[in-house]
Amino acid sequence: MIIGNWKMNTLRADALALAKAVMGMGCSSSTRIGICPPALWIDAIAEVVKHSSILVGAQDCVGDKFGAQTGSINADMVRNAGCSMVILGHSERRARFGESSEKLLNTVVAVLGTGMFPVFCVGETKKQRESGKASDVVVGQLKPLLTAGIDLGGIVIAYEPVWAIGTGLSATRKDIEEMHATVREVINRDDTPVLYGGSVSPESADDVFNARGVSGALVGGASLNADKFAAIVAAWERK
Ligand code: PGA
Repeated sequence: MIIGNWKMNTLRADALALAKAVMGMGCSSSTRIGICPPALWIDAIAEVVKHSSILVGAQDCVGDKFGAQTGSINADMVRNAGCSMVILGHSERRARFGESSEKLLNTVVAVLGTGMFPVFCVGETKKQRESGKASDVVVGQLKPLLTAGIDLGGIVIAYEPVWAIGTGLSATRKDIEEMHATVREVINRDDTPVLYGGSVSPESADDVFNARGVSGALVGGASLNADKFAAIVAAWERK
């Protein structure tokens, strides 16, 4: 599974052109490809890709039902706009908006309730890694899902070390393998995809995908360029 997180990028015309370019990329039917455009373009992009196998996702949503919440978009709305997944708990949102796994539980439940799947992000900061706490942090971010009895069979997890996001510094194969093994041990199931994210590029993709336990990638910057995104998909397919 290779998912593009476009973050707060693209105006409408660029977004539609990028979606069309992604749709034109060849890939085998066993690779699931998803794109997560800004919420405003979801509707139009879902229309563009509707006859293809490309999945469309939101980058966030709230877990509440309809009501007085100015500026918010809930799971039913993104589902209705054509999404099949929602990124939740991205480190940029954890850092900026104080999101935590505990606070996100109702959103995870709401997203699952619509039939979509959450792409639940976890990952440590540079400081946490340097002080030897990386796995404690990631385990701590996963534990609330287990405690709440969330069905992890319907979830995709993305391990994204914060220090590797948007920095060009990809984690080493050893770091990735170690953390993916830790995640796998905590969730205790084999059928939950665990993606890696953090500066995945055409250059780093082979190394990332050869790491044991990696089920694909959550790609930020490189997903804004169709050729680079296609090269990452190609790296996955020759693995
Ligand atoms: P990046 O972003 O590939 O630009 O590092 C990944 C992400 O934040 O999902």
